[in-house]
Amino acid sequence: MCGIFAYLNYNVPRTRHEILCMLVKGLQRLEYRGYDSAGVAIDGGNDKNWEKNFKSIKLIKKRGKVKALEEEINKQVDLDMEVRFECHVGIAHTRWATHGEPNFVNSHPHRSEKNNEFLVIHNGIITNYKDLKKFLESKGYEFESETDTEVIPKLIKYMYDNRESDEISFSTLVERVTQQLEGAFALVFKSVHFPGQAVGTRRGSPLLIGLHSKECFPTDHIPILYRSGLDKKSGAICDEASLQPLGETLSMEFFFASDASAIIEHTKRVIFLEDDDVAAVVDGRLSIHRITRSASDNTSRAIQTLQMELQEIMKGNFSSFMQKEISEQPESVVNTMRGRVNFDDYTVVLGGLMDHIKDIRRCRRLIVIGCGTSYHAGIATRQVLEELSELPVMVELSSDFLDRNTPVFRDDVCFFISQSGETADTLLALRYCKGRGALTVGITNTVGSSISRETDCGVHINAGPEIGVASTKAYTSQFVAMVMFSLMMCDDRLSMQKRRREIIDGLRILQDQIRQVLELNEQIQVLAQELTCERSLLVMGRGYNYATCLEGALKIKEITYMHSEGILAGELKHGPLALVDKMMPVIMIIVKDPTYVKCQNALQQVVARQGHPILICERNDEESSKHAYRTIEIPHTQDCLQGILSVIPLQLLSLHLAILRGYDVDFPRNLAKSVTVE
Ligand code: G6P
Repeated sequence: MCGIFAYLNYNVPRTRHEILCMLVKGLQRLEYRGYDSAGVAIDGGNDKNWEKNFKSIKLIKKRGKVKALEEEINKQVDLDMEVRFECHVGIAHTRWATHGEPNFVNSHPHRSEKNNEFLVIHNGIITNYKDLKKFLESKGYEFESETDTEVIPKLIKYMYDNRESDEISFSTLVERVTQQLEGAFALVFKSVHFPGQAVGTRRGSPLLIGLHSKECFPTDHIPILYRSGLDKKSGAICDEASLQPLGETLSMEFFFASDASAIIEHTKRVIFLEDDDVAAVVDGRLSIHRITRSASDNTSRAIQTLQMELQEIMKGNFSSFMQKEISEQPESVVNTMRGRVNFDDYTVVLGGLMDHIKDIRRCRRLIVIGCGTSYHAGIATRQVLEELSELPVMVELSSDFLDRNTPVFRDDVCFFISQSGETADTLLALRYCKGRGALTVGITNTVGSSISRETDCGVHINAGPEIGVASTKAYTSQFVAMVMFSLMMCDDRLSMQKRRREIIDGLRILQDQIRQVLELNEQIQVLAQELTCERSLLVMGRGYNYATCLEGALKIKEITYMHSEGILAGELKHGPLALVDKMMPVIMIIVKDPTYVKCQNALQQVVARQGHPILICERNDEESSKHAYRTIEIPHTQDCLQGILSVIPLQLLSLHLAILRGYDVDFPRNLAKSVTVE
């Protein structure tokens, strides 16, 4: 939700053109986080003596996608693109609107006043912005936008104008500003008063810093400076605690970004900031400081090496990221199981849970929490988890769980499923459960994400980066991860050995079976053509496949803008049947599991109301096929794994419907991939 990117070069000469290309490329990589407007701020002026250009900052913003911003940049005839900067800070932003419609003034960067003395890019929400605005207005500040963000550059200008000493550092000012802010934020600041410097900070929203230097770094940790260790008056930072590569001349590049995808093509060396860290680059040196010790109690931040490869975040020959990610599922589910499931001796070991598995087995209740698709992964695996763990399992939507102040106890184990690991509601639910003493487990796809760092233990699903806003491969991998966990919960139970073996055998052939389902692509494309003009689509099923209905309907509404509802077939007679007539398209999932007979009944009821059901069923299911208007036949697997195969036709159907209806599959209107606001 909003992407922020900043690039700082120090003793690395770059033309203005190169800097702008770097910023635009960074935004393109983050565009899936928000795409209704975009903007950049760079040093203005065309003096060949680059340092003279520090006196003014040029802001370029545009409503629409990053492409529109790029076109706007190309129209800037008053900017000499060949001016070469030895040192420069550029900040950039792609927006998902929360306060104020997407337009020029509401887009970021936001400024302190017309002279652009202080500029900021922001991801998150400032909840006390109204009070701050009132205060600043009383001091004579004039606001131009409807955003919550605009209070931030104005507040820093206020702090600057009222500074007690000219020695004050940029980071001290930022720290003073963040002490006044409530809500969630990741911020990067730029200012004419602190040329060549950048300051970034976060609370609740992600921010990482990529580091690049030709020389090597003498350390793989950067110590935190606590406020008490600084020169209290000026807030000046001592050299020993700043990061500096070995070598005669210090030449460095820094990349601040909301996530790793914007950084990976420049460097793999990154630092993940924690809440309330203030990271400042001054004279090419990075230092991180904070007022209080961090929640993690670490007194340093590690320089980590990203494992991601560039091609993982490139579309390649696919028409969309979503299409690429759907087709990656045969490999991504295997990557989730790699090194964890031993198909020879039928054991499952999730390394990230080993230290806590005894406590987990002793717990009183499992609570599985998530939003959107991640919540559906919880619903999809609840039954197998209940069966194999023999524990009560609650599956909760993060927002509702918080709204209810749900009772949580020390002997509960709480799972947080999140592809991004940054979803605000899920993160807040995690902190809520932690505060009540429960053991917390993260099921995430993003190494270094807030949820993976703040949980006591966890499982990385290793599905690879997911860029398409509509989640696909993350769902099937979350599903597999939860099945693996269920298997791990009962590995010492003799009575369950047969069942465990059957499920593990099912996992063994999953890759091949997913490939077979993907071969239905053309058939599903034909079906999509028939359904293109429909206004509504019902998806019905029950038992293990209820989650498939919810997830399939979510995919359809998200990217095709068609009304779609996932319906529990057991509830059909309690309302939804009223919607069925010969006009209403109904997709039914009927597989040979314990709900088969009941699903047949539902099918009869739909047919009796002149409905023309489209069936997702197992191959050779003649009984069901005779009543179907169309069938999509998938291979048979274990009941608890069938949902992995049955969801794929619905992923493909939504993809083709969106393409046929002329929509941008990867950028559905009004949505964003990573929802970092409540
Ligand atoms: C957004 C995305 C969904 C995702 C949900 C939860 O709505 O568009 O694809 O399922 O957030 O995100 P998470 O990263 O926590 O899985």
